[in-house]
Amino acid sequence: MKTTPEDLIPELKQHRRIILGHEPTPIDPLPKLGQDLGITLWTKRDDCNGLAFGGNKVRQLEYYLGPGVEANADTVLITGALQSNFVRLTAAAAAKLGWQAHVQLEERVPSHDQLYRKSGNIFLNNLLGAEISYFPEGEDEAGADKALDERAKELKNHGRRPYVIHLGLGSLPYGGLGYIRAAAETYAQTITSGDKPDYIVIPSGSGLTHAGFLVGARAIGWDIPIIGICVRRGKKSQIDRIKQRSSELAQMISRPDLISDQDIILSDKVLAPGYGKMNHQVKEAIEKAAQLEAILLDPVYTARTMAGLIDQVRTNAIPLGSKVLFIHTGGNPALFAYQNAIENFSRDN
Ligand SMILES: Cc1ncc(COP(=O)(O)O)c(C=O)c1O
Repeated sequence: MKTTPEDLIPELKQHRRIILGHEPTPIDPLPKLGQDLGITLWTKRDDCNGLAFGGNKVRQLEYYLGPGVEANADTVLITGALQSNFVRLTAAAAAKLGWQAHVQLEERVPSHDQLYRKSGNIFLNNLLGAEISYFPEGEDEAGADKALDERAKELKNHGRRPYVIHLGLGSLPYGGLGYIRAAAETYAQTITSGDKPDYIVIPSGSGLTHAGFLVGARAIGWDIPIIGICVRRGKKSQIDRIKQRSSELAQMISRPDLISDQDIILSDKVLAPGYGKMNHQVKEAIEKAAQLEAILLDPVYTARTMAGLIDQVRTNAIPLGSKVLFIHTGGNPALFAYQNAIENFSRDN
């Protein structure tokens, strides 16, 4: 019989989950890219989990929306960057549930590129039937949440039953439970296949994917180094964020004190010039993954994470010959929005 995440972490059953994606997602070898780098490389294909182009936010939404279903909501509200994958997947989940989605898009990456402003996830939000509003700031989490709450109040006054997904640090990180689950799923797969990695490399943005995976791994006694690659904020503030989020998540599965400071490993060496902006390493990662393995990576999250992985190998933080599992968290639709940015980025930048 197959081992389920709940067999390994029964405390997950304390939380209501709805099923939105396929699991387990496959783990694929990346032999040519691995050989190019001098390591054994695999990828866990969370980009292939089924819902509207897939991605890590499918797992997160399964736990964010559980309480919403319990509260008998009929409308979901969320805020995110213009090309947010989370927003697109929330619109998709709402369509599946028969709810209305209200999505608020923040100006986080200044760009007048029409592809960035209209294509990729924005095109999909429209196609999925979401109602869209805009928020002028990109780095004001509390302000964006407040604007969303005001919209929820208006909707309530019009007889809707709104459910707001709050992503700020003041709200519980339900989405991280999805990655506690993913860690257990991954562990069970690697035990069955015998392909046990020495390192996991994962993106670290809001931090719920990273913190969730870390808490899940430690909850089952899996002591593997989990290297978070900073995709949004610098290492210093990201360490505090992962500390807070992993402590909250550990408490949410009744396992406080699970994570120590040494468990939190982060690199921000490929973050410059900042969130969602191209650099040489990101461009190299996009091209290498596409041309050696037909793996598509987006510039904001997954290519930056692969670039971080390549940097870790080149600087010997991950020694040559190591076995490495790269968590592919999706984001493919953003490739189209970034087409100009990728094609026009040259080595002279
Ligand atoms: C494709 C993709 N990968 C990674 C991340 C980062 O995940 P987290 O916000 O859980 O750190 C995001 C966040 O939006 C994403 O869309």
